[in-house]
Amino acid sequence: MKMRMAIAALAASAVTAGVVLNNSAPATADMTNIVRASFTASGEVKRPDGWRQWIYVGTPLTPNALNGGAAPFPEFHNVYIEPSAFKAFSATGEFPEGTQIAKELVSVRAPDGANPDGSTNEVSGVAYMQGEFIGLELTVKDNKRFASEPGGWAYFSFGHNPEPYAETAAAFPADSCNSCHAGNAETDFVFTQFYPVLRAAQK
Ligand code: HEC
Repeated sequence: MKMRMAIAALAASAVTAGVVLNNSAPATADMTNIVRASFTASGEVKRPDGWRQWIYVGTPLTPNALNGGAAPFPEFHNVYIEPSAFKAFSATGEFPEGTQIAKELVSVRAPDGANPDGSTNEVSGVAYMQGEFIGLELTVKDNKRFASEPGGWAYFSFGHNPEPYAETAAAFPADSCNSCHAGNAETDFVFTQFYPVLRAAQK
């Protein structure tokens, strides 16, 4: 009885922590026990819970001012990897099946009086500082579910807008997202060349 209550408490705390338990794998601390994305019956991915509590890996920025005034992706990209996938990546140097990586878009801070190049004068100097959250994307590696996607990586967007983000998202066709990642990303479709935390873990 005590044991059952302890298990129930554990399950409840896992739910509050936003952890989705993987029913298909044995419940061990084994590295193959990767926390998986959830999908709707029609195959859309559900927006993950608590991605800002995942492992933060880096923040690429390609500002407008350095791209003729119109960068294709001018905002900060805060990138996070789901912790169980990070643990496996650290041990093996490979992204395990089920890996989830989120990229949250954050505007460049631009209050009234920003400089013409979009920078601002802050206490630390002339700066590009982070403004507001303005979008969320996700990539999921699953060679079973996404057998036709190169590398098994599918790409999703929950909106390029301030919160609230969409609850679910359909996978983009491979040539919208996957093909650029395939040709240019350093490690298995992921741009590890821009993520010092992943490079350090990769050794
Ligand atoms: C022209 C090339 C290009 C295209 C097309 C592209 N991406 Fe990316 N993507 C990048 C680059 C470069 C990075 C890393 C640097 C950055 O975020 O600016 C990245 C990073 C990401 C990341 C973080 C994880 C990783 O793999 O590095 C996600 C998630 C992502 N992109 C989603 C998408 C989605 C969704 C689409 C399609 C709507 C898409 N990308 C289309 C170039 C591309």
